[in-house]
Amino acid sequence: MRLGIVGACGRGSAFRAACDALDEIEVAAVCDTYETGLADAADRLGAKLKFTSYERMLDEANLDAVIIGTPMPLHVPQSIAALERGLNVLSEVPAGVHVEECRALTLAAERSTGIYMMAENYLYTRPIALVNELVRRGLFGKTYYAEGEYLHELKELNEKTPWRRKWQTGINGNTYPTHSLGPILQWMPGDRVVEVCCLGAGQHHRDPRGDFYENEATTVTLCKMRSGGLAKLRLDMLSDRPHAMNNHVLQGTDGAYESSRAPEEPHRVWLRALSEDPCRWTPLDELEEEYLPHSWRNASAQARAAGHGGGDYFVMADFVQAITGVKSPTVGIHEAMDMTLPGLISQDSIEQGGRPLPVPDSRDWLTEERKPPQLVMTMGKAALESPPQVSIPAGYILRRLQFGEEEAYAVLMSAAGFEGVTKHEAEARMRRVIPGGFFVVEHEATGRLVATAMAGHAPTIGRANAGVLDWVAAHPEHSGRGLGRTVVSAVMRLMVERGYTDVYLLTDDFRLPALAVYLALGWEPSFEGEGMRERWDAVRKELRPT
Ligand SMILES: NC(=O)c1ccc[n+]([C@@H]2O[C@H](COP(=O)([O-])OP(=O)(O)OC[C@H]3O[C@@H](n4cnc5c(N)ncnc54)[C@H](O)[C@@H]3O)[C@@H](O)[C@H]2O)c1
Repeated sequence: MRLGIVGACGRGSAFRAACDALDEIEVAAVCDTYETGLADAADRLGAKLKFTSYERMLDEANLDAVIIGTPMPLHVPQSIAALERGLNVLSEVPAGVHVEECRALTLAAERSTGIYMMAENYLYTRPIALVNELVRRGLFGKTYYAEGEYLHELKELNEKTPWRRKWQTGINGNTYPTHSLGPILQWMPGDRVVEVCCLGAGQHHRDPRGDFYENEATTVTLCKMRSGGLAKLRLDMLSDRPHAMNNHVLQGTDGAYESSRAPEEPHRVWLRALSEDPCRWTPLDELEEEYLPHSWRNASAQARAAGHGGGDYFVMADFVQAITGVKSPTVGIHEAMDMTLPGLISQDSIEQGGRPLPVPDSRDWLTEERKPPQLVMTMGKAALESPPQVSIPAGYILRRLQFGEEEAYAVLMSAAGFEGVTKHEAEARMRRVIPGGFFVVEHEATGRLVATAMAGHAPTIGRANAGVLDWVAAHPEHSGRGLGRTVVSAVMRLMVERGYTDVYLLTDDFRLPALAVYLALGWEPSFEGEGMRERWDAVRKELRPT
């Protein structure tokens, strides 16, 4: 396998031991814009070809794969450039620095014949791999709480690698989440972070120019998991203290793990099935003989000695196996996004005073890409000037959704055909609405929720103060009673009362009863976008009385 390494004078050179230990790999080319160091890097990595232009390396070196070891903001553009050429990519962490570029990377990875993998090496370190094996064998029961800390004082390193001053300590929130979150996600298999909130411990350190670092000394990000579990991530790249590569805690229904917090301390576990004494920890390494994964048992001394506790070797070995089709990459594009996006959203959360914010799921980006865009409607001028009266049919009560009713809301959404709205998604929505904007209709006789709509503050590009009518749904057993009209009118009146002058909604062509209500209440179609006029013509034709 002909490999090219970009960023070869920095992190890229750390892959040497791993490449030496893997027969399948030939480091064919190196690339770095730091020309002075390039010859040394080529010698160290055993490469014949040297480039200062990444694109030229991709086009001229006849490569099968690239390792991207450049500064964080280059990971996405360089990964996409390689994927578009059908090359396999092993990118350093995190996958990207903005949500939008992460989306572009996800789509590029989906389209490419090359494989994308993120080099999250901490997953493969001995204690983390061992805990992973214990989880895999069910010894922790159901895992539901975890902590991960990345405590690495790097003020001096910041000055030597100035990109860090901007991308790691120049943005508030968790700018480097993958080493702490990656292992946690492996220990909660199939789970992902759906919502984060982030707060910091204040600014206590200045750089050599006298400026405060934008990233508060310590930030804590709380991650709500889809399963209802919780993870706490602490990031600290500024406080003076000994380096702690990975402090982790894991709690399950049948076991607990606490990582070593100092070199002399052991990692320890308590596992119901293996510990006779409920009050006694077992040193983790006592379980190695029986549970250490095969990869670690069979690895050569050279591999075990590779950087980051052997992690740098195993990440490469995994990459080779993924390319040769032995198995899919441990950290493919969606796993990389699951580890990266919570950090990016934490940066928005801390900006907004710690507000809980939803974390996008990169799998949805692929589905959205395959689906045509939704229809857009805006609240017309007449409706903004005089919003419709709210009429409530007899036997029903219009009110606001209360905390504690998330489950009932999820049941209503499911009955109305919106799959996958969990109790936790309902909780997240309750925090996104404008105050008093989460309307529901209750059926008086049964007390069941039978219709809903919400009013959200939803600025988009070019529409800084826009509001949105969102998640309109009615129970099919109560259709034909005008309940959709009730909740939509309630949202429209509230929007106008709150001073919104730009209100939109997104909907689908097949929701004909809802479209009829919107048109009747003064919503106007937007024709912007390819094919929209034709789609609206088709909708109107369907709605015309025969
Ligand atoms: N997984 C880990 O354990 C781990 C450890 C250290 C660093 N990293 C990651 O590795 C990346 C690099 O970190 P570093 O400490 O080596 O930084 P660095 O600044 O020391 O090295 C980056 C190298 O990239 C080169 N470079 C910059 N722009 C380039 C371009 N356009 N084309 C080619 N080369 C270019 C620089 O000249 C430099 O030699 C970062 O994303 C960091 O997060 C990961």
